Amino acid sequence: MSSPAALRIVRSAPAFREQLEIDTDLKSTHSLHQGVVFPFDMPAAVANYLVQRFTSREGLVLDPFAGSGSALLEAALLGRIAVGAETDPLGSRIAHAKLLPSDLTEVTLALQLLNLRRPVDLKMFRDCFTPFFDLETFREIVNLRAALQSRDDPVHRFIEFVAMSILHGHTVSFLSTYTFPQVSVSPEEQVSINRKRQQQPEYRAVAPRLLRKTAALLRDGIPSVARAHMKRHVMRRADPRDLEFVEPSSVQLLMTAPPTPFQADVRSDLWLRYWFSGTEAPTTEQFHQGSDLVDWVDYMNEVLLEGARVVTARGRAVFDLPEVRVRDREYALDEILADSVQANLSRFWEVEGILIYRKRSAKQRDCIRGGGQVPFGDSNRILVLKRRA
Ligand SMILES: C[S@@+](CC[C@H](N)C(=O)[O-])C[C@H]1O[C@@H](n2cnc3c(N)ncnc32)[C@H](O)[C@@H]1O
Repeated sequence: MSSPAALRIVRSAPAFREQLEIDTDLKSTHSLHQGVVFPFDMPAAVANYLVQRFTSREGLVLDPFAGSGSALLEAALLGRIAVGAETDPLGSRIAHAKLLPSDLTEVTLALQLLNLRRPVDLKMFRDCFTPFFDLETFREIVNLRAALQSRDDPVHRFIEFVAMSILHGHTVSFLSTYTFPQVSVSPEEQVSINRKRQQQPEYRAVAPRLLRKTAALLRDGIPSVARAHMKRHVMRRADPRDLEFVEPSSVQLLMTAPPTPFQADVRSDLWLRYWFSGTEAPTTEQFHQGSDLVDWVDYMNEVLLEGARVVTARGRAVFDLPEVRVRDREYALDEILADSVQANLSRFWEVEGILIYRKRSAKQRDCIRGGGQVPFGDSNRILVLKRRA
């Protein structure tokens, strides 16, 4: 879709280019952010800044690549109405649960009604799960999983989110023996971790850990301004290029960290969570970001075309893009996308500015395996587009 050189509009400089000082450490954010998070989600502190800068109270914030809902949760906590689309069923479930949190009493009551001690199929245990869990713990996990999957209401979805947040990790608060908390390693890799650490899975009672984690996630409380709109949030499994459930000209801010070219495919690193939630990772064909820059730009143009339909006049679209360095070549994705917008979509969008922030916490990058072929720079750039009237 990139236009021939002769037809290219001469790029006008963005109105602003600002360096932001934002503390992106997860620890300084609302406690609900400390549940399971997808790799590459937008840092909550960045979402907080963007929502405050570009929206007013009760404004509608859309994330068409909602991931596990970090950006949307922050919008909701600030009293905005959150609308999200996500193609990955696991991300969509997690995001949905974060937008509709239950309270500790609801979780306690629901847990009291579950029988976690029923006998379970041991073949499955021996095939993949022995390196991670003790048998009694596994029995409780399987019973919890079956009970959660047979009920589709906000409390059980929230418990599922809490359970996925403690499914595996490195302390006794988790249900597994020592392993990585974000990445689900393969059973073979876990066997080798166990051998190195001379460890064996021990019994970890599920219910008390779920209650403790629920209390921790809800520690900061849900602000009343957020509570008021809880029923108005919408989270769907949908293609970002076809948001038929979003009204025309209704969105004040389209805010997202979209998929980017050269991004590591982390779906296999989430296998234990896909298993627990009974969801399947989208196939590679369902994902278009590929490794091809031209494909990515075309895809993002389609997303922006749909964005132009739903974003209100003078509303914004903001894209949080990493600095990408591949085989010693640097790609300024913000500039590449800005160029394409000016060449192809200038009827709808004006390139307003670039915001740059430094990722202080390397934590998220460090937890991505196979990242060797995808080294990121230290900064992210946010491309700000303004919807023309
Ligand atoms: C970087 S994550 C999203 C983070 C989220 N926007 C946030 O800021 O918290 C990108 C998401 O886009 C989703 N996605 C949807 N369509 C996609 C596509 N065609 N290719 C790749 N990822 C896609 C992925 O499932 C992934 O969850």
